[in-house]
Amino acid sequence: MNNVYAVSVVGPGALGCLFAGKLAKAGFRVHLIDYQQERINRLSKNGIEIIEGDQTEKYHVHVTGHIPTMQNLIIILVKSYSTANLTLPPDTPILTLQNGLGNVETLCKKTGAENILAGVTTEASTLIEEGKVRHTASGLTTFGSWTTASVKEPLEILERAGFWVEITDSPSQVIWEKTAVNAGINPLTAILNVPNGMLLKIREARELLRELVIEASKVAGTEGYRFSRSLVEVAEEVCEKTANNISSMLQDIRAGKRTEIDSISGEIFRRGTSAFLTTPRTKLVYQLVRSLEQREIA
Ligand code: PAF
Repeated sequence: MNNVYAVSVVGPGALGCLFAGKLAKAGFRVHLIDYQQERINRLSKNGIEIIEGDQTEKYHVHVTGHIPTMQNLIIILVKSYSTANLTLPPDTPILTLQNGLGNVETLCKKTGAENILAGVTTEASTLIEEGKVRHTASGLTTFGSWTTASVKEPLEILERAGFWVEITDSPSQVIWEKTAVNAGINPLTAILNVPNGMLLKIREARELLRELVIEASKVAGTEGYRFSRSLVEVAEEVCEKTANNISSMLQDIRAGKRTEIDSISGEIFRRGTSAFLTTPRTKLVYQLVRSLEQREIA
């Protein structure tokens, strides 16, 4: 149990910094992977900081532009629109905890399904500034093997780093569940410029939240997914538990960055269309968030 594992975390965003810092704290050899050379230099020099309550801890991890060989695990936490640009080493377990649909399929094409583990995390982290995050709430990380990759070592690595982990036999199901919830909360908070909890307080927003999650659940149904609990109730529960959080999509809009709307609402309405199912509200919020992105960037 005293193995010093080598772990690469790809993406220096809110969750990437959180995972890299926690893994470094557990004593693993951690590489944080970024594609911007100037940011690599700054993060190498300054380290990463994690704020939890009134405690701040600083970690120095190796920050590089490419994933080194001989890694025990690679954790992908880049925005979904960057998945297609990744260069991945062969024969290495890769765990994606990214938002949205389509990431796994893209990774499988690059490296083979046998290396892929996939899932979701409800860890809540806010990027305050480059390399500095606030861990706003601990959450559950749920993942499983996409086809034949072993979950044993990745599970040990994450648990030793202090993450609360659950293994699932159906990673695609948990990804759909999270995406359906995100399809309600993320675009609405981004469009209305409100924290998650406000969606429950505004009657019309709450109605829209329900309708968006129902549209997403129906599309999931066309792909054969059935859910044991109402995803509308799950979405409302998430809003309640994360009432003061600024959703990742609103964080992106406020920072003038591209959002993950394409892999969330975009994928849902496209998949719906392929299955002859219309998702008018999903399409509308997709169009509005795309417009906001361009307004912010212009
Ligand atoms: O993307 C996010 O911000 C989170 O997944 C969620 C659940 C909406 C909470 O803020």
